[in-house]
Amino acid sequence: MTAVHSPRLDVHLNAAELDAALRAEARRGLTTTPKDLPPKWFYDRRGSALFEAITALAEYYPARREREILADRAGDIAALSRPQTLVELGSGSATKTRILLDALVGVRTLSRYVALDICEEAVHDAGMAIARAYPGLAVTGVVGDFGRHLHRTARHGRQLVAFLGGTIGNLMPDERHSFYSRLRATMTGGDHLLLGADLVKSPGRLLLAYDDRAGVTAEFNRNVLAVLNAQLGADFHLDRFDHVVRWDPDAEWIEMRLRSRCDQVVRVPGLGIEVHFARGEEMRTEISAKFRRSRLEAELELAGFEMVRWWTDTAGEFSLSLAEAV
Ligand code: SAH
Ligand code: TRP
Repeated sequence: MTAVHSPRLDVHLNAAELDAALRAEARRGLTTTPKDLPPKWFYDRRGSALFEAITALAEYYPARREREILADRAGDIAALSRPQTLVELGSGSATKTRILLDALVGVRTLSRYVALDICEEAVHDAGMAIARAYPGLAVTGVVGDFGRHLHRTARHGRQLVAFLGGTIGNLMPDERHSFYSRLRATMTGGDHLLLGADLVKSPGRLLLAYDDRAGVTAEFNRNVLAVLNAQLGADFHLDRFDHVVRWDPDAEWIEMRLRSRCDQVVRVPGLGIEVHFARGEEMRTEISAKFRRSRLEAELELAGFEMVRWWTDTAGEFSLSLAEAV
């Protein structure tokens, strides 16, 4: 008789903390001048689905470029890192992760996959899919914020931490530095970090990637307002905000904003506040920093990582770094 193993997935929730964080961050962001909201709140079920749709757009080159590098280098990554545990931060649908998992299964050291994402549905769906596809693997899901909950990914042996999709670029520079340092503190010498980062290139190409013709990115950007409506009982009218994208040449980042189409007052009962938007007022919803090798290498070194490999796609648009905790 064949034994049937039901896929085993452990999911750890940090629901109360995430709810408290949303409230605190939304209150700060909606009452400061100029207004800004942190990008992590884009990702409810619909936001994650919209991001998946973005990765299929012709204009959104990063996803295809990163996949290309992973396909070429997964064997090298596996041979160099030989992890017992693959930890993935901001794992989303974890589709590219399978390229890595296939190579890691090949070096026969891997026994565990830990997915950490702020979106519960994404953690659950990706965790189940991976548990099914890799029956020998223990799969753990952590619903949390990689800015706060890194320590919730209990360590099991040598680790490879994957942080893909260029998500590192969505952190503000100060957040990025503390992220690297905190991450390093959860790792041991000899562990590895695999980091996907988008590279500086012509502004025209960059702007299109964040402002596609079909308007999927615009819908994604406005989804943060739908999240505030659902979570805080706010009454944002999504059609009263325009999607705006800018390239900041000094900071070398893309900035995503929502611009109020009219003078309006939005009620946010969950916070007990009303928020005024002037016509034309812009609220920042995300940055997406673009990198150069020298800066990445220096920032990693400062946090106790040594870059041991640097790969780009054939067009030189996107990068994958393998760094060792030293
Ligand atoms: N790694 C996937 C998804 C990238 S999109 C890929 O490369 O395609 C960014 C992902 O990070 C989303 O799944 C989002 O839910 C998650 N995310 C964003 N901010 C986060 C945060 N602060 N903590 C945890 N997850 C976060
Ligand atoms: N990490 C992705 C990036 O910076 C997230 C992203 C892609 C995104 N397109 C977006 C975020 C549009 C907000 C709006 O490329």
